[in-house]
Amino acid sequence: MTDQVDAFLATMVASSRPVSVEYALTLVQEHYGIAARATRLTGERDENFRLTAAGGAEYVLKIANAAEDPAETEFQNEALLHIERSDDALPCPRVVRDRAGKTFIRFTDEAGATRTARILTFLAGRLLGSSTRSPAQRAACGRIGGKLSLALRGFDHPAARRTILWDVRHTAHMRTLLEEMPRFPLASPVRALLEHVVPRIERELPTLRHQVVHCDLNALNILVDPADEARVAGVIDFGDMVHTALVADVAVCAAELIPMDCSDPSEARASILDVSRAYHDCVALHQEEVGLLGALVAARLLMTLVIHEWHVQRNPGGGHFAPLEEGFMRARLKISDQLLLQELRL
Ligand SMILES: Nc1ncnc2c1ncn2[C@@H]1O[C@H](COP(=O)(O)OP(=O)(O)O)[C@@H](O)[C@H]1O
Ligand SMILES: [Mg+2]
Repeated sequence: MTDQVDAFLATMVASSRPVSVEYALTLVQEHYGIAARATRLTGERDENFRLTAAGGAEYVLKIANAAEDPAETEFQNEALLHIERSDDALPCPRVVRDRAGKTFIRFTDEAGATRTARILTFLAGRLLGSSTRSPAQRAACGRIGGKLSLALRGFDHPAARRTILWDVRHTAHMRTLLEEMPRFPLASPVRALLEHVVPRIERELPTLRHQVVHCDLNALNILVDPADEARVAGVIDFGDMVHTALVADVAVCAAELIPMDCSDPSEARASILDVSRAYHDCVALHQEEVGLLGALVAARLLMTLVIHEWHVQRNPGGGHFAPLEEGFMRARLKISDQLLLQELRL
């Protein structure tokens, strides 16, 4: 398991030289026959470019980190194609095929590394993270999360059994990351909370139902309609998708949609319930899943702090993760602590 986690971590540090915009445009023209303009987008592991074609159509070019296995790109594309077949009303990107009809290409980058790239349609909308937050918006996210899980039910791929560090199954690995971070000021309270949560997750999670889930429904992966911000206009970024406990997906979405400025544990609990109840209306959660949900949300909040800080300290030039404010981290710890004291009731 440690080897698999290390392999995942390799895809998070800048192991490949960035592809230039000019080179990206040449690839797009040669392989897809699309003449476009391009701007660079953010990217945790993929390099992402927004493309605007001559006729105005918009796409995203996603170039995987050189350390990533092409099977993982194929897994994401196959899932998007499956979603389109199962529920074409779901607002997810569509896979664009190259001139040969393939869903991804392999190419040699400017540094000589072999890389995988693909093009998806660009979805219009405002990132949820820049919108006005509301209970109705959180419920819409819970519903779309539930619908997505229903669409993915029955989908599988060999790469689905991959190790995604962000998956709450790997909460125990946070201890190792803490050891590698001599400068993390909140290490002791985080460790104390992990002592509570890890044994429960290790005991109970493997017994719950599993399937392929999105597993990263966060405020930068959900687009809303600018004219009605409580309406979800898009779900993107299937980069953390994995075969894991279904309830992990609910926990990730509920944890990620707690507003950044929330410091009151009872407000956080209400926010978590907005998401979870709506998800539950689409995919009825089992009693054992609901029983573990609070602990999983707490785990995700802890993981976000630890992985984020680990990344900042390990990859200071990376720029993708900015250092977190101590006040924010303390508020997240307080919310986690409270979640472990009293179970959620849907
Ligand atoms: N298909 C898309 N439609 C609209 N915006 C997109 C799309 N893909 C990526 N983006 C934009 O690029 C950002 C990073 O892309 P994403 O796929 O989420 O990568 P990461 O794994 O780094 O989070 C997103 O938060 C979003 O702003
Ligand atoms: Mg993203």
